[in-house]
Amino acid sequence: MRATQTRCQIRPMRLGDIPQVMDIERESFPSMWPQTTYRRELKNKLARYLVAYQPMDEHSIAATPEREPGLTGLLRRIFSSSSPTKERILGLVGLWCMMGEGHIVTIAVREAYRRQGIAEVLVVAILETAREAGQDGVTLEYRISNHAARRLYEKYGFSQVGVRARYYSDNQEDAVLMSTAPLRSSKFQRLLSQRIEEQRARWGDEYPLAGSLGRLLGATPSG
Ligand SMILES: CC(C)(COP(=O)(O)OP(=O)(O)OC[C@H]1O[C@@H](n2cnc3c(N)ncnc32)[C@H](O)[C@@H]1OP(=O)(O)O)[C@@H](O)C(=O)NCCC(=O)NCCS
Repeated sequence: MRATQTRCQIRPMRLGDIPQVMDIERESFPSMWPQTTYRRELKNKLARYLVAYQPMDEHSIAATPEREPGLTGLLRRIFSSSSPTKERILGLVGLWCMMGEGHIVTIAVREAYRRQGIAEVLVVAILETAREAGQDGVTLEYRISNHAARRLYEKYGFSQVGVRARYYSDNQEDAVLMSTAPLRSSKFQRLLSQRIEEQRARWGDEYPLAGSLGRLLGATPSG
């Protein structure tokens, strides 16, 4: 594991995660889902939501990068929508399973923890979840200006299949549609295995999916 990387684990999202998930949404997207949507989504049998989380103890709470000193920090912590918790949610990913085709509806990583490979781990986890849920392939869309998202998705075998003009109502931006090859195809499995090996090499003993891919498969939302 690299010195700059944050130890984390992956598990299905729970109701109690929603306040922290909203914090991540707020800093990641121009418009966000209301809390009620997440509450509904966690009961949606066709949806799967996973989070990357950092188990927290008092020491690591004190060491978190966004902890602000002084009165401002104190007030922000008191009035923050995040309730005190033993786990810090670092990122999330959501999937809808519709008639054999998975659709990634959201993915985001807490700003202070980006560029550590957390999104890549979430992508592998959700692709495996989709495969185990019997989906043939996975689609998604992203804002055409979002180069980070494009590079992430291309790295995991997504390729462009279309453009929806002025899809995003807040700024009339185009959406780019992407899709994977069939998840069970040897071409796709070869790529995924290669990426998983790279992730193992990067994370070493702390690889968040080590031994847990099986547990994630078929993960259902829980409260
Ligand atoms: C996109 C996002 C999820 C990436 O999360 P992350 O944990 O920082 O990504 P990772 O560290 O796992 O990076 C994986 C790959 O993504 C690409 N990538 C990620 N951030 C990038 C950036 N700022 N610029 C260029 N490429 C980037 C790279 O290909 C990277 O692989 P590399 O390290 O070998 O170059 C994160 O930037 C985010 O939450 N953005 C806001 C929400 C969003 O745009 N979500 C996608 C909506 S479609």
